[in-house]
Amino acid sequence: MMTDLSIVKRYIRMANDGWLQGWHERNGGNLTYRLTKEEVAEMRPFFDARPREWVSMGVTGANLAGEYFLATGSGKFFRNVEIDPEDSICVVEINDRGDSYRIVWGLVNGGRPTSEFPSHFMNHSVRVAATGGACRVIYHAHPANIIAMTFVLPLTDRDFTRALWKSATECPVVFPGGVGVVPWMVPGGADIALATCEKMKEYDAAVWAHHGLFASGPDFDITFGLMHTIEKAAQIWVLQKSTGLPELQTIQDDELRAIARDFNVELREEFLDERG
Ligand code: 13P
Ligand code: ZN
Repeated sequence: MMTDLSIVKRYIRMANDGWLQGWHERNGGNLTYRLTKEEVAEMRPFFDARPREWVSMGVTGANLAGEYFLATGSGKFFRNVEIDPEDSICVVEINDRGDSYRIVWGLVNGGRPTSEFPSHFMNHSVRVAATGGACRVIYHAHPANIIAMTFVLPLTDRDFTRALWKSATECPVVFPGGVGVVPWMVPGGADIALATCEKMKEYDAAVWAHHGLFASGPDFDITFGLMHTIEKAAQIWVLQKSTGLPELQTIQDDELRAIARDFNVELREEFLDERG
């Protein structure tokens, strides 16, 4: 069975882990994974006898022509992925121009891949180029604390990156490149997809103001871990501000540099203040 395959099991586990974190109210959030050739070969016997119609995406990712993705369905609840994967998720094939998809497995009761598929697809396209093909996972979730931060901090990459780096010591090690911030936009279309990819050319995570977070990575562990680390830092930031007490101390910029030196990572220097 399709759902016995290791890659499908690990995809379902990640979706359920996100649900358990409280990041996926109702149908909130979506997850896509770009399958390897070997994984597609293992899956092929389980594909539908007749694939569904090609659907134009409104965006083009020429470097993803012919690729296959696991994707959550639009309007489907992460809460149900584990108990009813055939109804909740699908495998889609991309055409040879990289501008349309068709469902080859899953969503047995009808439906289509996530409404954010154009964003996921374009982010995959950009991250595949930025990482020499290593990136395979794009994950969108609605974690409460990072969303809360978008009401009170200026919506700049620098402000968010600094606030997160200084909220938890591991942050500069986990995302030394920082995070991008996309202003509020209507979700689900080509415009937000293109705005997000501008950020994902430089960052492996992007905040959507008043909406959520996009994270990318080579596998489920790294991508889930990135989402988790950013949201945990955001939670600490929000808790700290919520005390209402003045901040007496924080991690200094030269201390961030010291972490980078010892952990052998390169911080985005323009996000740091001059050396003290
Ligand atoms: P979908 O149900 O279409 O995946 O949409 C959920 C969401 O989070 C939109 O941003
Ligand atoms: Zn969303």
